[in-house]
Amino acid sequence: MAVVGIVPAAGRGERLGAGVPKALAPCAGRPLLEWSLEVLEGVCDRVVVAVAPGEPLGPDRVRGGEVRSESVRAALAAAPEARIAVVHDAARPLVTRELVEACVAAVGGGGWDGAVAAAPVSDTVKEVAAGGRVERTLDRRSLWAVQTPQAFRADVLRRALGAGAAALAAATDDASLVEAIGGVVGVVESSPENIKVTREIDLLLAEELLRARAAC
Ligand code: C5P
Repeated sequence: MAVVGIVPAAGRGERLGAGVPKALAPCAGRPLLEWSLEVLEGVCDRVVVAVAPGEPLGPDRVRGGEVRSESVRAALAAAPEARIAVVHDAARPLVTRELVEACVAAVGGGGWDGAVAAAPVSDTVKEVAAGGRVERTLDRRSLWAVQTPQAFRADVLRRALGAGAAALAAATDDASLVEAIGGVVGVVESSPENIKVTREIDLLLAEELLRARAAC
């Protein structure tokens, strides 16, 4: 059963401000993307990366889209052999082999169409209206902060990514598109350490965590 890693890495990284696409920003001695690639290549039969305009292309390097979901769709289209697709953002360098394997196993078991890494929420979360007025406080016991990796039955993910341009632009992860077509998605508990690098402070934190891990 071909397991293919799909890495959206075509973001411009404007909030990071590194002057290069975020995936290429230096992080603990190597480009951010390399941390995730090393882990995925250890688990997957093949890894396809969606890259920013101007980056070199090849069989495993495709041109990304305007929005993240389009980048995922482009990378998946280059891997027709995929039976399980593991989508992982280049922006999460602290992913571990164990976490990828757990997501793949959860989908391979057959009960779920998708399995997503997630951590129980530790903050109190409120719904806030425009203007700052609190509408309601959500029950934290059922809230999970969702990350990547997200593993899917590839046929289901292909169907989900067939959504219209507006739905693709609005989606903040791939699981929500699978949920929208009636797919069954479950969570695989992960560590909050699996942070997403968005701003400079995240990059500093990721570097510290990666160095601390290397020192263990
Ligand atoms: O912007 P954000 O941090 O949500 O991006 C998550 C991931 O999606 C990053 O790895 C980024 O490179 C990727 N991305 C992409 N194509 C886009 C926008 C973001 O591959 N058009």
